[in-house]
Amino acid sequence: MQFVETICYLKTFMVVVLSGWYEFVVYKHFRRNQIQRNEEDIRGKCVVVTGGSSGIGRSSAREFAQRGATVVIGDVDLENGQKVVQEIQQQTGNKNVSILKLDLSDMDSVEQFAQKVSAEHPRIKILLNNAGIGSSKDENIKTKDGFNIHIAVNYMGHFLLTNLLMKNLEAETHPRIVVTLSSYLLLSKLDLNDINMDKSGFGFKNSLPYCNTKYCLALFTRELGRRTKAHAYALCPGIVDTPINNLDNFSGTLRFFYRIALRTGASSANEAASEYVMYCALDKTIQDETGQIYRFRKHFNKANEKVNAELAKSLWEKSSEMVRLNERLERITKNTLT
Ligand SMILES: NC(=O)c1ccc[n+]([C@@H]2O[C@H](COP(=O)([O-])OP(=O)(O)OC[C@H]3O[C@@H](n4cnc5c(N)ncnc54)[C@H](OP(=O)(O)O)[C@@H]3O)[C@@H](O)[C@H]2O)c1
Repeated sequence: MQFVETICYLKTFMVVVLSGWYEFVVYKHFRRNQIQRNEEDIRGKCVVVTGGSSGIGRSSAREFAQRGATVVIGDVDLENGQKVVQEIQQQTGNKNVSILKLDLSDMDSVEQFAQKVSAEHPRIKILLNNAGIGSSKDENIKTKDGFNIHIAVNYMGHFLLTNLLMKNLEAETHPRIVVTLSSYLLLSKLDLNDINMDKSGFGFKNSLPYCNTKYCLALFTRELGRRTKAHAYALCPGIVDTPINNLDNFSGTLRFFYRIALRTGASSANEAASEYVMYCALDKTIQDETGQIYRFRKHFNKANEKVNAELAKSLWEKSSEMVRLNERLERITKNTLT
């Protein structure tokens, strides 16, 4: 039975990867040259970026700073983060770039970060929920809140952060929430009664936690679109040459696969930020849309079709309880008033 499941998984995996590779090649060699940018002006507006000191987040923070925004980065490693802030300030000449401690694996840290940001920035134009850990990383760790580490960092932390900053987002005109997904969400097998995957296990090569958390984020984006005034956009960037794909993180077949993928079908972090993240964050042509998933600057139909509206509602309710959202919201409101 397990053999059959593994074969089915590998088949879907190859379809996901090859279709992504094909779309990437078409985008890079044909569609990209025809694109006309039509971006919103964000000079002086506040943008919050999670995981902004590395990879796609770092390049996105630079793009926002280049456009004159006030950029707040949330990340774990403040030592490296401060260097990144200085680098972005020097490269862009924009001094309004800063970093605050944010550990998405710890819901108290998320609350503290949200508390500081919401007090300092009454209005937030864009929240980029970008930070993440890949499938090779510590899949078996439980956080102090009792979550699987992937569920905590990739999904729950972002669910909580977004809700705690919602008032500030909704105080802006045309606010946007942008979420970094992965095409691997198509391989997810989410069971709401086993969200930490204690019973199901972590699947082939421990890939299920990553796939499931990216699907959770897709469901979250759809539900945000239904519930909030802020518009929500999710993007699958394809394969991007960043530390998350460091070949040392992989072994055997996956290592071989990533080596080829990075050589033939990968964007750089700068390309992913300037092409795909900026599209979801700023492009006026999609400003009336919300709750949708995009890949290479167009709707990613397969992923949008997988998003189940009922499941999205149930996940929202379950997540609210699991992170004790109401209690934390009350505390933030009280602290802001005093
Ligand atoms: N690269 C790809 O091929 C690819 C493809 C599809 C989707 N994505 C998604 O794109 C996003 C960005 O990844 P990337 O490729 O730019 O990889 P990356 O360079 O490894 O960036 C990940 C960022 O997340 C931060 N982070 C990790 N754990 C955190 C925590 N507990 N709290 C707060 N921040 C934390 C990291 O901080 P430290 O550096 O301090 O650990 C880093 O800044 C991720 O969500 C990833 O799943 C990437």
